[in-house]
Amino acid sequence: MQKEYIFQYEEIVDFKLLSDLELQLFQKAIDISKSAYAPYSKFNVGVALLLENNEIITGSNQENVSFPCGICAERVALFAAKSKYPKLTIEKIVITASSQNFELDYPVGPCGICRQVLIEYEDNQNKDIEIFLFDTKKIIKLAKAKHLLPFHFKEDRLKNK
Ligand code: THU
Repeated sequence: MQKEYIFQYEEIVDFKLLSDLELQLFQKAIDISKSAYAPYSKFNVGVALLLENNEIITGSNQENVSFPCGICAERVALFAAKSKYPKLTIEKIVITASSQNFELDYPVGPCGICRQVLIEYEDNQNKDIEIFLFDTKKIIKLAKAKHLLPFHFKEDRLKNK
């Protein structure tokens, strides 16, 4: 039997449709992307996330000459937020990227590992996390992290027999 997985997302080209708080998040993501340590990929990613106490936590990607040691901007921000405020809900996360080496003609989406991390926090907090991917021309807005990873691995798979 064929089944379909459908989800909706918004494409926004008018940045004026964003709230002041969202614009602030966007600016923080751009600012922090400049702190990326990305000498190998020359691909800078910046993330800003909003917590329920209105605090904004940011992160940029951090690389290493031993390539697998590096970590994406999303997880830098998510782990920083969750280690500082384990109980607080994540309301929104915004992600942007820039690169001297690569043409970026569409907003960059998080990698699979970061999607998995995001979804587990979303599941735990019982509130959807709004996701904004953006570049200079366009914003992609998703209502929840779960849309990003169908059939994601869940804690209930680890139940004892
Ligand atoms: N990267 C991120 O920080 N987030 C993503 O969503 C995709 C990729 C980083 C990892 C690495 O430092 C560089 O971008 C190129 O892959």
